[in-house]
Amino acid sequence: MHLTLTPQNRVFDLVPGRPVLDTALAAHVNLPHSCKGGNCGSCRARLLSGEIDYPRGTPLGLSEQERNDGYVLLCQAVARTDLVVEAREVRRVTDVEIKSLPCRVERLERYAPDVMGLFLRLPAIEDFHFRAGQYLDVMLPGERRRSFSIASPPHDAGLVELHVRRVSGGEFTVRVFETLQPGALLRIEGPLGQFVVREQEPDSPTGPIILVAGGTGFAPAKAILRHLLESGVRRPIHLYWGVRHEVDLYQRAWIDERLLRFEQLRFVPVLSEPAGDEAAHYRTGFVHDAVLGDFEDLADAEVYAAGPPALISALRATLPIRGLPDDRLYFDSFAYAPDAKPRT
Ligand SMILES: Cc1cc2nc3c(=O)[nH]c(=O)nc-3n(C[C@H](O)[C@H](O)[C@H](O)COP(=O)(O)OP(=O)(O)OC[C@H]3O[C@@H](n4cnc5c(N)ncnc54)[C@H](O)[C@@H]3O)c2cc1C
Ligand code: FES
Repeated sequence: MHLTLTPQNRVFDLVPGRPVLDTALAAHVNLPHSCKGGNCGSCRARLLSGEIDYPRGTPLGLSEQERNDGYVLLCQAVARTDLVVEAREVRRVTDVEIKSLPCRVERLERYAPDVMGLFLRLPAIEDFHFRAGQYLDVMLPGERRRSFSIASPPHDAGLVELHVRRVSGGEFTVRVFETLQPGALLRIEGPLGQFVVREQEPDSPTGPIILVAGGTGFAPAKAILRHLLESGVRRPIHLYWGVRHEVDLYQRAWIDERLLRFEQLRFVPVLSEPAGDEAAHYRTGFVHDAVLGDFEDLADAEVYAAGPPALISALRATLPIRGLPDDRLYFDSFAYAPDAKPRT
């Protein structure tokens, strides 16, 4: 069986029984992807001809409307016939080695009622190379894993900083809030993901860099922001952060200090459920609407977005209307699946 990718018209063999994404990646054809679990929607592509199955069941990351419009999730789809798929090939952005490492909890810092800063110390003899924006998996017994974005940038390699939001009844996050102590040992695997800051090249766009975070999507945004500011990037940078209430805007002092030091930085917090007089002091509504309201033309911009799947879907659906090229919206969707399968 063959897969033809349009518009490039690349053809390659499909391995029977294996998800289309896996065979494409094995053939060094890098298609967009993130969770590989059918949850985040990153690998969504339009099936122009052929038939597929979802052996693990209909994936959650595809809406009924998208299915009806002919979209498939390539990380879950297995071919039954030759396929013709419209999908954008992306430049491979990371060749970093994925490692499985023990680490020690150095400290825990309460950032907000339901967000904990978790600082991990990796073994001194191990190099842990990653790119700003990537995430790691904390391993649980039975090869189960939980994903968290790295909030510290690669050039500050002393401690790895994570921002952990407490999930009600969550196996790992509740442990972080209730029993995890400094000195505890964890095992991590990483770095993971294709959501990384793009280096400034002579042919890079010159317009604004817009970071859009939802909740603890601030973690990778912080790593990217630090990388950009601390490596001397001069382009205008806009940080949009959507949360429910003011109290969810943790690390405000850290942001305020950057706003004083870096003239090119602008910060727009957006509250979706303002309480009391919060509405008088903040933008309100959905954070993607705030971005749309502020920018008429995004043709020369780059957008980095991280947070809940609904935020990412909204940005993917709306930013192209403002002229943002498809390949300049970089995103990480915090899709979760209970006891996600080991990554292949
Ligand atoms: C690439 C990636 C990066 C991520 N980065 C971060 C990050 O930086 N900070 C962060 O706080 N989270 C992040 N997440 C989400 C995080 O992985 C989950 O919240 C976490 O795995 C929950 O683990 P748990 O063991 O506490 O919950 P589980 O025991 O896995 O889940 C308990 C119950 O809660 C549901 N649930 C699990 N996670 C969530 C959630 N996020 N929201 C609502 N319901 C949920 C489950 O479906 C289940 O019903 C990221 C996810 C991905 C895919
Ligand atoms: S990579 Fe396919 S849904 Fe996330």
